[in-house]
Parts: sequence; structure tokens; C-alpha cells
Amino acid sequence: MLKGAKVGLRARHDDDIPVLRTELYDDVVNSSRAGSGPWRPITPGAKDPRLVVDDEEEGHVPFSVVELEGGTLVGTATLWGIDTHNRCAHIGLGLLPSCRGKGYGTDVVAVLCHYGFVVRGLHRLQIETLADNEAMLRSAERNGFVREGVLRSSAWVMGEFLDEVLLGLLAEDWKPAPPTP
Ligand SMILES: CC(C)(COP(=O)(O)OP(=O)(O)OC[C@H]1O[C@@H](n2cnc3c(N)ncnc32)[C@H](O)[C@@H]1OP(=O)(O)O)[C@@H](O)C(=O)NCCC(=O)NCCS
Repeated sequence: MLKGAKVGLRARHDDDIPVLRTELYDDVVNSSRAGSGPWRPITPGAKDPRLVVDDEEEGHVPFSVVELEGGTLVGTATLWGIDTHNRCAHIGLGLLPSCRGKGYGTDVVAVLCHYGFVVRGLHRLQIETLADNEAMLRSAERNGFVREGVLRSSAWVMGEFLDEVLLGLLAEDWKPAPPTP
């Protein structure tokens, strides 16, 4: 398990799946804002790639996020679109509604940076998020990501086109948080 100050990133377990499906993906608004495609329900037991991990897929590394204290599941985190030639990748995360606003998102981004830069030797990490997603923008900027541009009207979300912000962080600009005692 990868550890931050508050959260751990571990493999997906079978009993995470119903919780993630109900709390994250069955929520039409959350799912429409966080995903890049139209919302559709996930049938219980289906091998939906948002939930069920394909360990053979090299370019996509999904984690379940747990509280370090107690090990309770709090969400998902992903390093995706890994490009080993240009040594870059994207990061994404989603927390259960009751687990937001407690500093976990900022910590998840820190752990994904450690995984991307230290474990995988990447040179650049990238995040795309809706321009009104203050919590995601702050979680990224707290870890050193800088806004590189606005993708105007790039996301169709619940009946309207919304802007997305592109943020990037280079390995040489990353300042890892000091280890917790
Ligand atoms: C986006 C998300 C991962 C952020 O994680 P979080 O744990 O809620 O964020 P944190 O508690 O670490 O807060 C980060 C910062 O955002 C601020 N913040 C948190 N919630 C906020 C909100 N609803 N509105 C405005 N600011 C907010 C915090 O005050 C903090 O600011 P600071 O660094 O200046 O103190 C989480 O809210 C989430 O899962 N949202 C739904 C899914 C999603 O949007 N995923 C991202 C898709 S790209």
C-alpha cells in the first residue's frame, strides 16, 4: 500500500465494488461531472472497467483509497494514460460524498505524485477538471500543479457545455511532503 499523511492507496477489493457503485457511479450528477462520457447504470456483477480492475492494462493503474486510521474505504484514485515514451500520465480521483472536504483529496494527489514520479519515473503529470471544481483545483495546486490552460466548452455535463482547466506538474517542480513521523 502507498501511504500519505491521511490516506492509503491499495488494490481494489471485491467488497469495495458495491460501495463505489452505489456512492459514486449511481449518482448521476457526480458521475456525469467526473467522467468523460454519458452516465449509464452499472449492472451489479458487471465487469465495468470503472470498477473492476484489469491488471493486464499497463497504461491504467486504479487504486482504492482508504483512511490510514481504520482502513475504511473513502474513494478511488487512478494514474491513467501512462505514456512511457514521453514519460507522462494523467491522474484522477473521486471520494465518497461523506469523505470530501477533510483534506483527503489533497493527500491523494500527493500520493499519486509519489507513485508517478518516484515509483514510475515519470516526468510530467496532468489533471483535467471542470473549471468550477474548486476542491479539485485546490487539491492540485496545493501539490504544485499549475494551470496551463482552459479548454473552452469541452465537457457536456447535464445539459450544458462546461469549461475544463488543464493543470500540469513536472518532476523537477514537485516538492514532496515531508514524511509523517
Ligand atoms: C475533488 C475532490 C477529490 C477533492 O477532495 P477533498 O478531500 O474534498 O478536498 P480537500 O478537503 O483536500 O480540500 C482541498 C481544498 O479545496 C477546498 N475545498 C474543499 N471542498 C470545497 C468546496 N466544496 N468548495 C470550495 N472549496 C473546497 C478546501 O478548503 C481545500 O482548500 P485549501 O487547500 O485552501 O485548504 C473531492 O471533493 C471529490 O471527490 N469530488 C467529487 C469527484 C470529483 O470532482 N473528482 C475530480 C474529478 S477531476
